[in-house]
Amino acid sequence: MKPLFRATILRRTLSYARAYSMSSPVLRVLGLESSCDDTAAAIVSSDGQILGETNVHQHTVHEQHGGIVPGLAANHHLKNMPLVVHDTLKKAGMQITDLDAIAVTRGPGLPASLAVCVAAGKTLAAVHAKPLIGVHHMEAHALMARMTSSVVQFPFLCLLISGGHTLSLVVHGINQYTMVGTTRDDSVGEAFDKVARELQVPWISSQEGGGAGPALERLARDGDPLRFALPVPMDKADSAASPDFSFSGLKTRIKRMREQNLFNPVVRQDQADVAAAFQLAATKHLRKKTALAFRRAREMHVDVTCLVASGGVASNLAVRESLEQLATSNGVDLVCPPPSLCTDNGVMIAWAGIERLKLGLLDPYTIDFIQRWPLEDLKTMGYRPRASSF
Ligand code: KG4
Ligand code: ZN
Repeated sequence: MKPLFRATILRRTLSYARAYSMSSPVLRVLGLESSCDDTAAAIVSSDGQILGETNVHQHTVHEQHGGIVPGLAANHHLKNMPLVVHDTLKKAGMQITDLDAIAVTRGPGLPASLAVCVAAGKTLAAVHAKPLIGVHHMEAHALMARMTSSVVQFPFLCLLISGGHTLSLVVHGINQYTMVGTTRDDSVGEAFDKVARELQVPWISSQEGGGAGPALERLARDGDPLRFALPVPMDKADSAASPDFSFSGLKTRIKRMREQNLFNPVVRQDQADVAAAFQLAATKHLRKKTALAFRRAREMHVDVTCLVASGGVASNLAVRESLEQLATSNGVDLVCPPPSLCTDNGVMIAWAGIERLKLGLLDPYTIDFIQRWPLEDLKTMGYRPRASSF
């Protein structure tokens, strides 16, 4: 990049932080997401309005394969990204030149999928000389609730439950995370998806939430959770005190039950009873380990303002109900974004972009995607841009 161009961007970057703190103008940011199987874009303003939003799901593409096929996902992102950007600008009645910045999911996620939104965002930002913000996908899930509820002030306790992660953390501020618990094997979303496959549950349509997890939740509503009592993971003396999670044992147990013909996966009542038993055990596990995360926050002398649950599995009503009781017993509210903002979307990327833009946290046009990216590493990433980073 030419030095003059660098200097212009740097000046503009620093002036955002200064201008925002002085006059609080309304900022408008385009967010792009393609880390997994959703191609999404949204334009969001700093007063929390969604000005335009488009999300193209790929459930019908991957259902026949029983899970997400990375190559297929990337091909569809390549095809769909220009369309979702165009559609979002049209819905907002805006042009790129009207934006204050462009935010993209930088990681973690599927490499070929991440490459699509990172390349699209970098190119749009560079061509229009707009500030670029590389967003951590899980930070975006964590911050989403700050757009939808004023209760969510720092520090808060956060449970991130998605297809790729199961994390409990204390969120002290933007970039400032203390990990409390993480999964030792599968994520909770992965477990929902694998159990749905074991039970041969057809995925439900994108209009109804889409995918295997919501299909299992719907099936569980008609089931008896006590017919097949499943043990709550990590509940024995040697692991009960750990705030970590584990879901692979539940999945394996259900697989073994099928091999032993303890249920018939094509009999609907059997499917529903197993789904209900799995959901109950998974929910109890999430709740018990989140209770330990509350305890850990107290030990750290952090007075959390609320419990936030986000990520695809936080749209599950049984999970929400159970976490709500837990939050109440700890004297705070549970805050979850609405279901469509719990699963992957462009709004959360745009909103995280706004939060970072307000602090002047921008990235150079040379950024690459980061496939594996622990949230705690954000602490050591440039808090304010330095001249050398452009
Ligand atoms: O956050 P997300 O949309 O994508 C990732 O970042 O991974 O989460 C997707 C995961 C999938 O495993 C999906 O089956 C699960 O969240 N999920 C659900 C529900 N809705 C989505 N699991 C259980 N119940 C739901 N209602
Ligand atoms: Zn996600």
